[in-house]
Parts: sequence; C-alpha cells; structure tokens
Amino acid sequence: MLLYSIVLVQVLLAICHGSLAEKMMRPKFKDIKIWSEEKMLSHKVVYDNSDPHLNFSMEVHQELHDVDIHLEVRIANKQDSLYTTTLNTTLNVCRILGFANQSPVGRFVHGFIREYGNIIDNCPIAKGSYFINKFWWPEDPTTAILPELEFEIIWQAFHIDASKKRTMIMNDHFGGEFVVQDVNNLKPGIFAMLPKVA
Ligand SMILES: *[C@@H]1O[C@H](CO)[C@@H](O)[C@H](O)[C@H]1NC(C)=O
Ligand SMILES: *[C@@H]1O[C@H](CO)[C@@H](O)[C@H](O)[C@H]1NC(C)=O
Repeated sequence: MLLYSIVLVQVLLAICHGSLAEKMMRPKFKDIKIWSEEKMLSHKVVYDNSDPHLNFSMEVHQELHDVDIHLEVRIANKQDSLYTTTLNTTLNVCRILGFANQSPVGRFVHGFIREYGNIIDNCPIAKGSYFINKFWWPEDPTTAILPELEFEIIWQAFHIDASKKRTMIMNDHFGGEFVVQDVNNLKPGIFAMLPKVA
C-alpha cells in the first residue's frame, strides 16, 4: 500500500513538472519514523539513497478483517512557502484491492508492484509475511528548471474489526526533499511506456 502512495506522489510530480530533459528529480529521505501495533503486525521500511530502492516488509500476526489507510502528503517549495501541494485522504485497502483486481489500470499497477515481492491480494488479510524488495518506481527525466521541494508523508493504517472498531496499526512519517541531480542510473518505467504528449 505504501507503494501505491509513492507511485501516486510520483504521478503528482510528473503532472506538476511535465517531462523531457537530462536531469532527474529524486527523493532523499532524511527522516523515517516507523511504528506498528506489534500485537497485530510488525513492519519495516528501508531505503537506499545511493542505489535508489525501497524495501518494505510486514509480518501480519493476526488476520486483518478490513483496513483503512490514512495518507497525508505535503510537498512544499523551499523558496516559496505559498507553493504547496497537499493530499489528505483516507482509502480503504479492501476496496482498492477489489479495484486492483477488476480494472485494467489497477491490474497494471498491482502487477508492476507484484514483480517485487509478495504483496496483499485479498481481504481479509491473512497471517503471514509480505514484502517488497528492491522496489523502485519508474523515473522520467525531468526539466532542468525545478524548485527545491520538501516533502512529508504521513502514513497510517487502521484495522477495522467485524464490529467496526478502528484501531491504529501503523503510523509512519517520512520526511525529506526532492533534489535535482544528474543521474546515470535512470530507471525508466511506466511513464516511458506511455505515449508522450508533445
Ligand atoms: C533490499 O533487499 C535486497 C534484496 O534482498 C537487498 O539486496 C538490499 O540490500 C536491501 N536494501 C536495503 C537498503 O536494505
Ligand atoms: C486531514 O483531514 C482530516 C479529516 O478530514 C483532518 O482531521 C486533519 O486535520 C487533516 N490534516 C491536515 C494536515 O490538514
């Protein structure tokens, strides 16, 4: 699920900044705080800035009936505090999985992420290990003139039991900045596959 939001952030950035040039805008995570309700699950996120990839692992200790994700993303221009993009939304994982299994776009994104490991397919979420290794989202070269951006992602998950009681099970904060850099390990993907708009 975290990966869906990262892909989403990447899509937001692509929309904000158009495309085409030599440089790449990459996130640098500075601050990662991870919390989980250990009775129900444990999870871990590691990120490598130099050979950019992300590993996510989660051990589910008790079957999860239904899960809501609360996601807040703030992207701010360091030079201009008026320029901010925010996202504040709550999503139901089980409904997204239903969507992922039914729609072509959903299947595409889900299939893309699935190549990286063992991810959740269905609800209720069974006990077991889920992981994503060496995940990296598709990159596109971006324009050279870009503002310096800071980002903050708050990622919370809530378990909803059969009697609709909500319990927080994950609470992660990611902070960092997007830096424009010349890279020699561009990893093209989804956007490179899509037709370019001139
Ligand atoms: C992520 O997992 C891969 C495959 O297991 C491993 O090679 C890599 O070192 C891990 N990365 C980090 C930052 O731990
Ligand atoms: C996000 O939305 C929730 C509920 O609509 C609200 O309580 C919360 O304060 C919002 N967060 C921010 C940073 O605006």
